[in-house]
Amino acid sequence: MIGGRVLIFMHALIQKFHQAGQGQVFAFFDQLDETARAQLLAEAAEIDLAEVRRLTETLLGTHGASVDLTDLQPADYERLPEHGGETLAWAQAQAAGEAALRAGRVAAFTVAGGQGTRLGYDGPKGTFPVTPVKLKPLFQVFAEKLIAAGRRYGRPLHWFIMTSHQNHAATEAFFAEHGFFGMDPAQAHFFRQGRMPAVDFTGKILMESPGHIAMSPDGHGGSLRALDRSGALDLMAQEGIDILSYFQVDNPLVRCIDPAFIGWHVLRGSEMSSKMVPKSHAGEKVGHFCEQRGKLVVVEYSDLPKVMQEEADEAGHLRYLAGSIAIHLLDRDFIRRMARGADGAALGFHRADKKIPTIDASGAPVKPEKANGVKFEMFVFDALPFAKNPVVIETARCDDFSPVKNAEGSDSPQTCREDQLRQFARWARAAGAVMPTDSTGLPAVSFEVSPLFGDDTTSFVASWKMLSSPPVISEELYLSDRT
Ligand code: UTP
Repeated sequence: MIGGRVLIFMHALIQKFHQAGQGQVFAFFDQLDETARAQLLAEAAEIDLAEVRRLTETLLGTHGASVDLTDLQPADYERLPEHGGETLAWAQAQAAGEAALRAGRVAAFTVAGGQGTRLGYDGPKGTFPVTPVKLKPLFQVFAEKLIAAGRRYGRPLHWFIMTSHQNHAATEAFFAEHGFFGMDPAQAHFFRQGRMPAVDFTGKILMESPGHIAMSPDGHGGSLRALDRSGALDLMAQEGIDILSYFQVDNPLVRCIDPAFIGWHVLRGSEMSSKMVPKSHAGEKVGHFCEQRGKLVVVEYSDLPKVMQEEADEAGHLRYLAGSIAIHLLDRDFIRRMARGADGAALGFHRADKKIPTIDASGAPVKPEKANGVKFEMFVFDALPFAKNPVVIETARCDDFSPVKNAEGSDSPQTCREDQLRQFARWARAAGAVMPTDSTGLPAVSFEVSPLFGDDTTSFVASWKMLSSPPVISEELYLSDRT
């Protein structure tokens, strides 16, 4: 039985949708059973109709609202010492970062709420088997890197993981089934990101089925609101954590915790910092770090005209060289300010035209063959122009970035496995092992190094030296935790 107050709420909500011209959401309401009605009402209650109307007016009208490219310049960044950066400044950054880590000021943060449609893998992307020999899932690689960092700095690291409504339960269950990969479960914190309804090209909210609205995650930029709403920021404050190390779930090469990066962030009093890699070629599909009227901005490859992507300086180097690899540091208070829209600091939405499964007027399913609607997403890098003293530092692609995006071809499981093998081979060589490779640095045999044995050259070499008889690097060799 539905109580009187619930009935009033239900009618008011349905009426609001009708008044907003979104009555189609409840077209099949009378045909649903009580549970399905309650679910549909709950989904509808999540939607901010004024926001949907505003987005329809601003983003749909112009069909891909044009991006402001006036006064755009390439952004400055801190070069690695091998590319002319100051060795002393990098050493100072390393020391400051290590001190922040020893003081427990840093936590890790993975955005894992994406849908992973390009990879086409059934399950949360973080559960994808990614390493060359042990086929460890992405989540295990990060967990072990965090355990290693916790041991190194004498402070176990907290790890925040943002999921989506779709993959939250499966993600939590995966960690539980695998004993949290050796982490203390109390250090791992999962929370869902927000959702947005998809609309057709006229702004009508699309239904996925008669009883469900077509809802999708609100983009990695939704992480800022979700960190606030979930209580993650409060927990950070209680624990004395003021910096979040942000990375994506699809990049096992990432240095989850990078002291030099943290040090630059701290020493510059930055509220949000980012890593760049020099673009591999003019048309590489990465965002570009740029400066616009004194603000740091990221301009997506699809928004930067080809002539600018290809523009070269006098020495023949690309002018817009600094590619974004989605690795950031964010201050707790800055996240709170952005999440709450304080002082006008708020992320805008972007539109993405997609094929969105929906229903026709009779309620029958429709599988569109071309884009039939729009999803709205926020991007975390849009926070950069609001940050005080943002810093961009250079990193070596081979030590920080090899994402698994596509099932085949570039940025695929195969390219990522090969990049991991090249990294292991570089470490082994640095330790003095005999290491035949091809001209790209790919070793002749597949082997694997646990992050608990070594997660960079220094730690690998140290562990290698402790071995009483170093092994011959052979097919399927696994160098595991030595503690
Ligand atoms: P991508 O842009 O690669 O999107 O996300 P995706 O959804 O994972 O994959 P495709 O485009 O459907 O193939 C980059 C990172 O941002 C996270 C992803 O989980 C990934 O770590 N992300 C993306 C979220 O956490 N939430 C989102 O709404 C979108």
